[in-house]
Amino acid sequence: TLIDKYVTELAVPPVMPWAERDEAGRVDHYTIGVRQLRQQILPAGMPATTVWGYGSIRHPGSFAYPSCTVEATYGRAIRVTWVNQLLERHGNHLPHLLPVDPTLHWANPEGGISRRDARPAFTSTPGPYTGPVPIVTHLHGGHNTQESDGYPEAWYLPHASDIPDGYARVGSFYERFKTIFENQFDAVWEPGTAVFQYANQERAATSWFHDHALGVTRLNVYAGLAGFYLLRGGPSDLPDGVLPGPAPKLGDPPGKHYYEIPVVIQDRSFSTDGSLFYPASRASFDHFTGPYIPGSDISPIWNPEFFGNTMVTNGRTWPALSVEPRRYRLRFLNGCNARFLILKIVTDPMAPRPADPVLPFWQIGSEGGFLPAPVQRDQLLTAPAERADVVVDFTSIPVGTDLYLINEGPDEPFRGGRAGTDFRPAAPGTTGQVMKFTVARPLTTSDRTVPPAHLTLPPFEPLGPASHTRQVSLQEQNSAVLRGVGPRMVMLGTVDRHGNPTPMGWGDPITENPALGATEIWEIHNSTKDAHPIHIHEVQFQVVDRQSTGHSARPPEPGESGFKDTVIAYPHAITRVKATFDRAGQYVWHCHMLEHEDNEMMRPYRVGPR
Ligand code: C2O
Ligand code: CU
Repeated sequence: TLIDKYVTELAVPPVMPWAERDEAGRVDHYTIGVRQLRQQILPAGMPATTVWGYGSIRHPGSFAYPSCTVEATYGRAIRVTWVNQLLERHGNHLPHLLPVDPTLHWANPEGGISRRDARPAFTSTPGPYTGPVPIVTHLHGGHNTQESDGYPEAWYLPHASDIPDGYARVGSFYERFKTIFENQFDAVWEPGTAVFQYANQERAATSWFHDHALGVTRLNVYAGLAGFYLLRGGPSDLPDGVLPGPAPKLGDPPGKHYYEIPVVIQDRSFSTDGSLFYPASRASFDHFTGPYIPGSDISPIWNPEFFGNTMVTNGRTWPALSVEPRRYRLRFLNGCNARFLILKIVTDPMAPRPADPVLPFWQIGSEGGFLPAPVQRDQLLTAPAERADVVVDFTSIPVGTDLYLINEGPDEPFRGGRAGTDFRPAAPGTTGQVMKFTVARPLTTSDRTVPPAHLTLPPFEPLGPASHTRQVSLQEQNSAVLRGVGPRMVMLGTVDRHGNPTPMGWGDPITENPALGATEIWEIHNSTKDAHPIHIHEVQFQVVDRQSTGHSARPPEPGESGFKDTVIAYPHAITRVKATFDRAGQYVWHCHMLEHEDNEMMRPYRVGPR
């Protein structure tokens, strides 16, 4: 069945309602649940889709995929009680919406294997997992204490009536973080919940929250667990009226038109009954990595990367937005599991690739807030989890014009290079298209925002000099059992004194241990054949440079001049980033291709002493 394009209006996520405000303490309290719900993702007339969504428990209508946007204000803390409500009507647990791969090192409530420790030789595919679903929410882009960061092993289950005694009910870090949090704040982590506090003292920025439970993040996020978290105000924001607005506010009437819109782009696949499709067996990817070889210690049903055949933007397939001939601020988030996007605005969505751009993006921000100055870009390359805050100026576009946001990234892992020359761009008829803009609305009021070329962005203070340079590595590892035949997996690791990368798994001892307050350069040596988006929790870093084997270092790309939390590490190159590690505790760094992250391409790291 073909999915009609551009028949649904772009949905703009409404603002997440808070539960209580504590004016004196300057804390806003939220109670946010995770529930299963039905939502029209495919066009009207096609089946609805069962998804998972976050929502405010006191406002049942607020549960949605993607989530309502949390609007945070500089200097005003937010405390969220995150509740796992993956329960059916009678209070019994819901099974996972998607096939869990039980052979991974994952947040398995029944305990069980840890790949790295056990190195089991799988001879057959284990039976499907039907138990309760572990969750833990990470605020990606936040600068928070370890207890509130959403550590992958701080997961917890729904408080279900049918979970028998004897279940290992929580991840190994849950109790420890619960105790630290409860001792610090007047708060209690009830069963099935975790309470996190976000100080909101960072630079104004486009952050997002999503699930981060060990080894099932790709599935929990794919099922719908993601939303924007926008921090406004403070010395690193612009005064109202300079940039296009308004953005959604709590209590806006439905159908209101906005000039500032967050846009999350995700690829998905659907079965004919409208359900989300995520491949359950290695067989689906036989063309990719070859069939499973009995005896391999590489998981039998692991999918190396997910690539869907349908583009979903703000929770709708190929939506359309009718715009006025004026400026819009679009906060793009690549929310795909593994897909790199190369976005362009063109007049003909089926134009041969690479297509000619008709309107530039004026990028004003990245993950860590505003850039030092706006950058005009014909195309936006974004890896999973990267954000690009842009102004698009439709002022000179005649009313009646249709423009299309297309994608020229590949339908497979990205290796760098140019669309059409170095790799085949996404299929023009499907994943090569994202959304449509129709300049259809008359100007309601004149546009008094500052043209992007004349914008002065907030003061930007670069990090000081680094006191330490650390080398880390991205590498492929062969099966230990099969010695070079059969599937390989990607891992993070260290680099030894001879420059050789040493693979390390999630369960290996911590090797990255910056001193509290230290500014360090991390040299990311990528010896794999693909590019990987590397995310370091807790910090916003600056990209220093990149160096390919045999070449001199090149400066950061346009759009990388500000603070970032996720960086593309190109194959056979060293990517250098600099960060100040100013919060003590245990965090993680990982590849943000979620299938990689879930399969050992993630490492704990610690700031300060144990
Ligand atoms: Cu967006 Cu560690 O994650
Ligand atoms: Cu990766």
